[in-house]
Amino acid sequence: MPPALWTVWVLGSVISLPKEGASDQASSLSCDPTGVCDGRSRSLNSIPSGLTAAVKSLDLSSNEITYVSNSDLRRCVNLRTLRLGANEIHTVEEDSFFSLRSLEYLDLSYNRLSYFSSSWFRSLSALKFLNLLGNLYKTLGERSLFSHLPNLRILKVGNSNSFTEIQEKDFAGLTLLEKLEINVPNLQAYAPKSLKSIQNISHLILHLKQPVLLLEIFVDILSSLEHLELRDTDLNTFHFSEVSINETNTSIKKFTFRNVQITDESFPEVVKLFNYVSGGLEVEFDDCTHDGVGDFRTLTLETIKHLGDVETLTIRKLHIPQFFLFHDLSNIYSLTGKVKRITIENSKVFLVPCLLSQHLKSLEYLDLSENLMSEETLKNSACEHAWPLLKTLVLRQNRLKSLEKTGEILLTLKNLTNLDISKNNFHSMPETCQWPGKMKYLNLSSTRIQSLTRCIPQTLEILDISNNDLDSFSLILPKLKELYISRNKLKTLPDASFLPVLLVMRISRNIINTFSKEQLDSFQKLKTLEAGGNSFICSCDFLSFTQGLEKHGSGLFFIL
Ligand SMILES: *[C@@H]1O[C@H](CO)[C@@H](O)[C@H](O)[C@H]1NC(C)=O
Ligand SMILES: *[C@@H]1O[C@H](CO)[C@@H](O)[C@H](O)[C@H]1NC(C)=O
Ligand SMILES: *[C@@H]1O[C@H](CO)[C@@H](O)[C@H](O)[C@H]1NC(C)=O
Ligand SMILES: *[C@@H]1O[C@H](CO)[C@@H](O)[C@H](O)[C@H]1NC(C)=O
Ligand SMILES: *[C@@H]1O[C@H](CO)[C@@H](O)[C@H](O)[C@H]1NC(C)=O
Repeated sequence: MPPALWTVWVLGSVISLPKEGASDQASSLSCDPTGVCDGRSRSLNSIPSGLTAAVKSLDLSSNEITYVSNSDLRRCVNLRTLRLGANEIHTVEEDSFFSLRSLEYLDLSYNRLSYFSSSWFRSLSALKFLNLLGNLYKTLGERSLFSHLPNLRILKVGNSNSFTEIQEKDFAGLTLLEKLEINVPNLQAYAPKSLKSIQNISHLILHLKQPVLLLEIFVDILSSLEHLELRDTDLNTFHFSEVSINETNTSIKKFTFRNVQITDESFPEVVKLFNYVSGGLEVEFDDCTHDGVGDFRTLTLETIKHLGDVETLTIRKLHIPQFFLFHDLSNIYSLTGKVKRITIENSKVFLVPCLLSQHLKSLEYLDLSENLMSEETLKNSACEHAWPLLKTLVLRQNRLKSLEKTGEILLTLKNLTNLDISKNNFHSMPETCQWPGKMKYLNLSSTRIQSLTRCIPQTLEILDISNNDLDSFSLILPKLKELYISRNKLKTLPDASFLPVLLVMRISRNIINTFSKEQLDSFQKLKTLEAGGNSFICSCDFLSFTQGLEKHGSGLFFIL
């Protein structure tokens, strides 16, 4: 045993004993009066002694602890949260967690455990969260580890090297999980039915390098899973085979592919998975690579008809090495009629072909943030009869330059109410503009605008013009309820008579010196005013009336 270098601690304060004879770094725990103790990153090489029933939460992550003994936590009968992640733990004695009957959260991730004993978890019947990721084990052991954990809802297992095998009894006893994460990039063996015993899983995350055993797993979870997420998988050669699938009662509603690789040939095979979903499907591709040119001519409508069940499609950071050769996807247009929401973010989109826009007859929400859309291509995309039901269009951070042209192009969108064209560089605003007749929300933040004109539509209820170069505001907007105008150069509050129904104004970080009670009172409906970060000169009048505001509880939520 190392010399006594332990720190004695008292709840509610931090007391470190003088480190006489202690060569090691200080190793004090900080505990608050409610029993929450923080001992992260303090170079501890064992669990501090003297822990009592007063401790409710103990965080010892990122230390150098190697060993957990039967006595370390014996008196912590009220412990709810125990974090031991990122240590060097190689041994946990059999009864180490025996008295932790209230424990709800246990993190043992990123240690050096090469096996697990079912006896560790025997008395943890209150446990809801268990993280065993990133240790050295090859399997989850010979006995079912989790069968005494009826309340477990979130479970994370596996590691990126040695864990290669999923055994039939591994998940026995679990019935209802909100999240199950299995990190098994090198999966070599999957015993059929291993995951079938869990009757209900909301979200399964599988890290798999190759999809070899994916279908075996898929069959087992079809009727119990809602959301399947595949991570870091090379689907370039994925081939779907129907033979093993015999389940018609499916519960899958959402697929996520994160950092997955796909080709023109394997995409149709992936789409076949969508045949096994119930009702409207949500599909998400995050940070994926499509190594191809979108040539799906080999697809037969029969094999991909279930693409037509997709209601929500989200694509973020899609990498298409040959994006400039990408096809117009015309052979899948006929399947897009039910899609209601599409997000394609940061993926070099420069055009939605007119014909595709016209097929998107149910589309209500289109987000093309951080792409390459310009007025020229937008004109083709928002052609006559494009997106007839579109309510919300987000073109944040694209290549738009002219407000006048943008408004005119969008006149085809009769149902458009929300338009976000923030983070484009408009610089100036013409005297007048045309806009779709139902516009209620316009976001022009960070567009380098220097002054406002009647180009801003009169129908607006919400206007965001934060982070521009405005030095005054003198527009009449009879329906405006929310005005976001922070981070400009305004010297005074806008005139209340221009904004008769304003409820919310955020005007922080301008250069306003002062305003009077009368000025504020003239905003009759105002409920929230945020005005921090201005250069107020605190005259006596100003101070007394702002203090008065608080006292009289004028119903105004006021932030200076
Ligand atoms: C799974 O459980 C959740 C929450 O308890 C519930 O909403 C859902 O309908 C269940 N799914 C299935 C397939 O039983
Ligand atoms: C498929 O379902 C049928 C009828 O429900 C059953 O007889 C058969 O054994 C099942 N096949 C497999 C491989 O599960
Ligand atoms: C399908 O699954 C649901 C939920 O698990 C269940 O209530 C229903 O009885 C099943 N239907 C059939 C035909 O098996
Ligand atoms: C969309 O706009 C058209 C034309 O103005 C109108 O007939 C239709 O009712 C609108 N649909 C919705 C959902 O607002
Ligand atoms: C306007 O867009 C910016 C991003 O460009 C966003 O942060 C902000 O919340 C939006 N404003 C409103 C009122 O939704």
